[in-house]
Amino acid sequence: MSKLDFLLQRRSVPSRLLSAPGPDEASLTALVEAALQVPDHGRLAPFRLLRIEGDARSQLGEFLAALTAARQPTADPAAIEKDRNRFRAAPLILAVIACLTPGHKVPEQEQLLSAGMVGYNLLLGAQALGFGAQWLTGWAAYDAEVARYLGLESNERVIAFVHIGTATGAGPARTTPAVADKLQTWTAAG
Ligand SMILES: Cc1cc2nc3c(=O)[nH]c(=O)nc-3n(C[C@H](O)[C@H](O)[C@H](O)COP(=O)(O)O)c2cc1C
Repeated sequence: MSKLDFLLQRRSVPSRLLSAPGPDEASLTALVEAALQVPDHGRLAPFRLLRIEGDARSQLGEFLAALTAARQPTADPAAIEKDRNRFRAAPLILAVIACLTPGHKVPEQEQLLSAGMVGYNLLLGAQALGFGAQWLTGWAAYDAEVARYLGLESNERVIAFVHIGTATGAGPARTTPAVADKLQTWTAAG
């Protein structure tokens, strides 16, 4: 038993294998409170979360499906159906939004990373509470019309849609990079 086991055993659960129940109100509040404890250069808190649950999930899916159908009149009906169902399985999706301050002395990259760590904390926290979770983006995370539909300001970006629910199965086994391939000792040249 290693103190690092929790990290070693972290696994995403594919969103299609997530079902109700999701976190109750107290668990969700605790999860978000914990997830917000990220390193944050300049204390900008450059993130916020959108809670997407209930009918809002299918409304967002219908919006994506309609966008795909309008933009690609010859789109495969299966692709439209996939968009329609993107937010249907998990009872709760938390969209992690990066709220960027351009031109700030804290580079935008660092602001994005702080927001990204909120997403990762949500994965870890959901697992710690006994739920399954998966970080998904897909085209919708990078689409200006979807951003408007979600109510984002021009300085905001969707970093993640974190799907959370009760795992009904496990995802495929993960292959992780070998330490020897990823850890090198740096020495000054010459
Ligand atoms: C920024 C980011 C975006 C991702 N977007 C997707 C996605 O759109 N679709 C997908 O299948 N997996 C996506 N993933 C990968 C999954 O979250 C997850 O890592 C994958 O299912 C492997 O599971 P694991 O976390 O247990 O290794 C994304 C991961 C990250 C970090």
